Amino acid sequence: MKKRKRWGLALAAGLVVFGLTGCGHGSGSGEKRIVRIGHNQSQNHPTHIALTAFQEFINEKLGDKYQVEVYPGELLGSQAEMVQLTQTGAIDYCIASNSILETFSENWSIFNLPFLFSSAQAYHAAMDDPKVTDSIFEASKKAGFVAVTWLDAGTRNFYTMNKPINSPKDLKGLKIRVQQSPTNIEMMRLLGGSATPMGFGEVYTALQSGIIDGAENNELALTDNGHGDVCKYYSYDMHQMVPDIVIGNVAFMESLTREEQAIFEEGYQLINRVQREEWTKAVEAAKNRAQREQGVEFLYPDTAPFREAVISLHESILSANPDLQPIYDKIQDYNAQYTEEAEEERDGVETEKSRRVS
Ligand code: GCU
Repeated sequence: MKKRKRWGLALAAGLVVFGLTGCGHGSGSGEKRIVRIGHNQSQNHPTHIALTAFQEFINEKLGDKYQVEVYPGELLGSQAEMVQLTQTGAIDYCIASNSILETFSENWSIFNLPFLFSSAQAYHAAMDDPKVTDSIFEASKKAGFVAVTWLDAGTRNFYTMNKPINSPKDLKGLKIRVQQSPTNIEMMRLLGGSATPMGFGEVYTALQSGIIDGAENNELALTDNGHGDVCKYYSYDMHQMVPDIVIGNVAFMESLTREEQAIFEEGYQLINRVQREEWTKAVEAAKNRAQREQGVEFLYPDTAPFREAVISLHESILSANPDLQPIYDKIQDYNAQYTEEAEEERDGVETEKSRRVS
């Protein structure tokens, strides 16, 4: 992993030196403009599958002028590094967790709030509504990037090596890896654990060497990233639904003609569609594999004490950023609209619980 990362950074540095000018990118020379997209997931991950569909789509529609290249697995650096490369235009797009973006503009903090969405349906409906996302997606334009679409990254839950988490009390004294975002660090503090922020690519080694006792993420981290080889307890406390965001370099996007922009826009929607279709299947498969092959035990604690411990964060973020209030209210409308679904999700968890008990 370390070796790969060094290569990644060297490659990224090379892109900064050679990539910025668009050299070899074919401005008028008959060469194609290479469009580089980086992400930190494996090649089996729904995000990679979706980006490959985008690559094929753009290469088919605009292949005489553009050649899309997708770089998986932190080949271009960590997520935070890739955001910086996208900002400067050394690469054209990357996938960043919404959490990482918070350090570029506080507006992004809204989608990092724990227990913001009451069900997956409310989450999807809100993220699909331009009234909820538009101003946030444009929030970092001055910094050099905008969001072009969002991706499902499921529900984040705690998983640990030795100690099952059944209530926030169980987190006390445990070092838990969180994403590098002020909201996530504060969330962990409120829950009573000790927040250890680090990049995603470092988590496996940190778990293995005992630097941390656990982490929090969706089910795919167990299988795709091997965390389930080390952590045997996964607790559905359901604390966050943090979307992944596809961001693009503003200068590149503005360099496209109107017609090309329309085709790229179609491509962004394709990424969203394919990733979400693949996501549902991938979560189910990851859960089965983690249970059968890695021996991970899935726990279903009462989520209410987790929610109570962190809900004050909503107020803190809103009072620090009052402009977010209308967006927050709109999300609450979706939560109200999808209460039945929230109940069904809870019932699903109950059924799962009783199935395991019997
Ligand atoms: C999820 C998410 C990634 C993120 C990772 C993390 O896997 O999809 O974008 O980097 O969590 O916890 O850092």
